[in-house]
Amino acid sequence: MQRLNKKRILIGITGGIAAYKAAELVRHLRKLNAEVHVVMTRAACQFITPLTMQALSGNPVHTDLLDPKAEAGMSHIELAHWADVILVAPATANFMALIANGHGNDLLTTLCLATSAPLCLAPAMNQGMWNDSATRHNRQIIEDRGVHQFGPAEGLQACGETGLGRMLEPMELIEHLSEIFKHEILTGYRVIITAGPTFEAIDPVRYIANHSSGKMGFALAEAAVDAGANVTLISGPVNRETPVRVTRIDVTSARDMYRAVHDSISECDIFISTAAVADYRPSSEATSKIKKDPNVADDNLQLTLIRNPDIVASVAALKQKPFVVGFAAETGNVISYATDKLHRKKLDLIIANDVSDSSIGFNSDENAVTIIGPDFENTLTRTSKYQIARQLLDILTQRFLDRQTRKPQHTRALCTN
Ligand code: C5P
Repeated sequence: MQRLNKKRILIGITGGIAAYKAAELVRHLRKLNAEVHVVMTRAACQFITPLTMQALSGNPVHTDLLDPKAEAGMSHIELAHWADVILVAPATANFMALIANGHGNDLLTTLCLATSAPLCLAPAMNQGMWNDSATRHNRQIIEDRGVHQFGPAEGLQACGETGLGRMLEPMELIEHLSEIFKHEILTGYRVIITAGPTFEAIDPVRYIANHSSGKMGFALAEAAVDAGANVTLISGPVNRETPVRVTRIDVTSARDMYRAVHDSISECDIFISTAAVADYRPSSEATSKIKKDPNVADDNLQLTLIRNPDIVASVAALKQKPFVVGFAAETGNVISYATDKLHRKKLDLIIANDVSDSSIGFNSDENAVTIIGPDFENTLTRTSKYQIARQLLDILTQRFLDRQTRKPQHTRALCTN
């Protein structure tokens, strides 16, 4: 059930007696740490109140397509984009007919048309309606479009008849929902990524920095979230939007980054160090702005620099160390310098990157890298940083899982509580 952790689940409720089970469904989803928004049709509100669903989901319930107040909060299109999955439970025969025919005449049907998230239906209806040829025809159309159907179950129905048409129980629906996310191979694992440059203060207005844009680290964070991981991104100063479902910690200097990493590292399974951490910082930060002295003839200003802690090496040296991946941005002898760092810093993998080529360097949108491990080397040819991030994540995940004999740290923590 870890797979539903932090997932954004939109529950649609249509007007059937099984609507009461939606309350328990939402309650369980929330217990599993899923985010839930509920959309109810007008008929659903006759069976269960929006207030109940609001209290259980922790969010306002959406009922109208043309409600200006609701649209000002989260519009129907925003809701459609927000959802990782839509589950309509119960889905009546009428609702299935509307979906089969592509109707968009209320909020829920419109959302189902607008979303690109997987759509799942939990049919619930009288057995005669379920077996009717029109419903059968609609079921086939819906199935051909790739809509998931969970159930129905067979048994005694609310109307007193017996047969197929009972909505599955909430926990059964949750089992099916979690299957939707089974391709997410990092589900339950915690990934920490550092990104961007660090700023090392000289005085209150000046600092030493570098050209890192953070693009690679942010793209990796997005790819890790898409693989189901619980991702913390510790970023130096960059002007980038935080990818959805990523926990971001902003830091300024290398020492801030070191502290943030070690504060979070205890439950980390994979640590990816993409940050361009300043190797040195001024030995002291002047308390006020350093002034040019017009009376001094010497044009030189001496700054003494001292070494910063090596964050990735310090993580790799931990007793309970995660799988550690470093980056080596080099301008020459790329592979040999990177291999040397792999061994010297005791990393599991290192990604070598030739930044002398400005088209794949710090601020560019593209990259080409070589992944180096103790016993292999794999080159990824030039493509967008987003694509590189996905390919990198696939390879490093495979290496991590191959070596992995222990359970995800996050799951372990949950089990011992
Ligand atoms: O030694 P160099 O800076 O080239 O090593 C690069 C790798 O080490 C990167 O993964 C970078 O994030 C990490 N690093 C670090 N702390 C430092 C310097 C580099 O974590 N002080």
